[in-house]
Amino acid sequence: MPSAPAQRATAVPNDLEAYWLPFTPNRAFKAAPRLIARAKDMHYYTPDGRAVLDGTAGMWCTNAGHNRDPIVAAIQAEAAALDYAPAFQFAHPKAFELASRVAALAPGDLDHVFFCNSGSEAVDTALKIALAYHNVRGEGARTRLIGRERGYHGVGFGGISVGGMVNNRKLFGALLAGVDHLPTTYNREHQAFSKGEPEWGAHLADELERIVTLHDASTIAAVIVEPMAGSTGVLPAPKGYLPRLRAICDKHGILLVFDEVITGFGRLGHAFAAERYGVVPDMITFAKGITSGSVPMGGVIVRKGIYDAFMRGPMHVVELFHGYTYSAHPLACAAGLATLDLYRDERLFERARKLEPAWAEAAMGLKGLPNVLDIRCVGLTAGIDLGSRPGEVGKRAYDAMDKAFRQENLVVRAAGETIVLTPPLIVSEGEIEEMFTKAARVIKAVA
Ligand SMILES: Cc1ncc(COP(=O)(O)O)c(C=O)c1O
Repeated sequence: MPSAPAQRATAVPNDLEAYWLPFTPNRAFKAAPRLIARAKDMHYYTPDGRAVLDGTAGMWCTNAGHNRDPIVAAIQAEAAALDYAPAFQFAHPKAFELASRVAALAPGDLDHVFFCNSGSEAVDTALKIALAYHNVRGEGARTRLIGRERGYHGVGFGGISVGGMVNNRKLFGALLAGVDHLPTTYNREHQAFSKGEPEWGAHLADELERIVTLHDASTIAAVIVEPMAGSTGVLPAPKGYLPRLRAICDKHGILLVFDEVITGFGRLGHAFAAERYGVVPDMITFAKGITSGSVPMGGVIVRKGIYDAFMRGPMHVVELFHGYTYSAHPLACAAGLATLDLYRDERLFERARKLEPAWAEAAMGLKGLPNVLDIRCVGLTAGIDLGSRPGEVGKRAYDAMDKAFRQENLVVRAAGETIVLTPPLIVSEGEIEEMFTKAARVIKAVA
């Protein structure tokens, strides 16, 4: 077991009440907390110094591994040099530098970058840009937004409106008006235990034609999808699905947004999944991996034509009435630049691509274990569906996550009744084996 990095012992809190944890069963957590005090590379360390293998890259974000020295140094230096500069009407050099670096990684003519602080803000930004773009071009009737069932686009009102996760929507009122949804691309009967993109399901993109027929193309602004739906348990796009969606959007003048908050920065073996699928969307949302999780940051990359459409009118007038106090925060930009250097210097996207077959092989090795109903994987991701105990949907995967942490020193994620593994891209073949050996023991333990 790797030893904990030398640092003073971190105090264990003695009052857990005030903190309301996000997307967490608070009472269960506070009765038996899972605390993490430090991290380095592939491991977390608990307050009592136990090393825990990170099977999930934080929450799909620490793609370069934890607390990497160049990123830490860049953040420290920037904090000492420039804590903050106004994001409106002023700017600092690293914002331009990072935008250029991100644009250079993006496919086609996606060459302008709008920064924000999270995936949710990136999604709301993209949806607003889509609506405004049609407006400034004189097609203001294009107000409808199309998402997809089982999509996750963060927790802003825009994101939950186009998202397709019922628990994230049902308590929050009527949401945005004029939203419709494509069907999910997942079908266990036709796709179970597919490695990578399933063969079945490209035709589901044609459902967009049905939606266009229902509403008329002149009312539709944009379609937003994740190239691989992550938060609902790793649902890779079927072969041919995304090009078909692109073609239908082109035919009807509808913008296509890829939400690459998870798939960006190497998760599927490329800077962006758009490259893997040979499809150029009109916008890409990103977050998480841009700073390897070290400082909050998100953004939207847009095609040149979209940016240009706004660059009109008097020179002194704001072209897009949108932005955040912390857009392109200096610490996030410094972290982003150091992170992109690491991805490049260590060829981490290529590394993910090379590891994919071994990863998929190891994941599929869990087939046949008790209650395993399906396994999906693409890039360095795996979703393992478990059968539910009667009347307790989600409990088996939750127990598996908890046991993995306490008994196997492994962090996995529970998404509904799916165990999800998505390690940092620096994972070794030995650590892949360790992860799936531990996951197998846990699955047996919750049988
Ligand atoms: C595809 C996608 N979009 C948006 C988000 C929201 O990101 P954030 O939690 O940073 O707001 C997520 C988060 O997991 C995501 O997976």
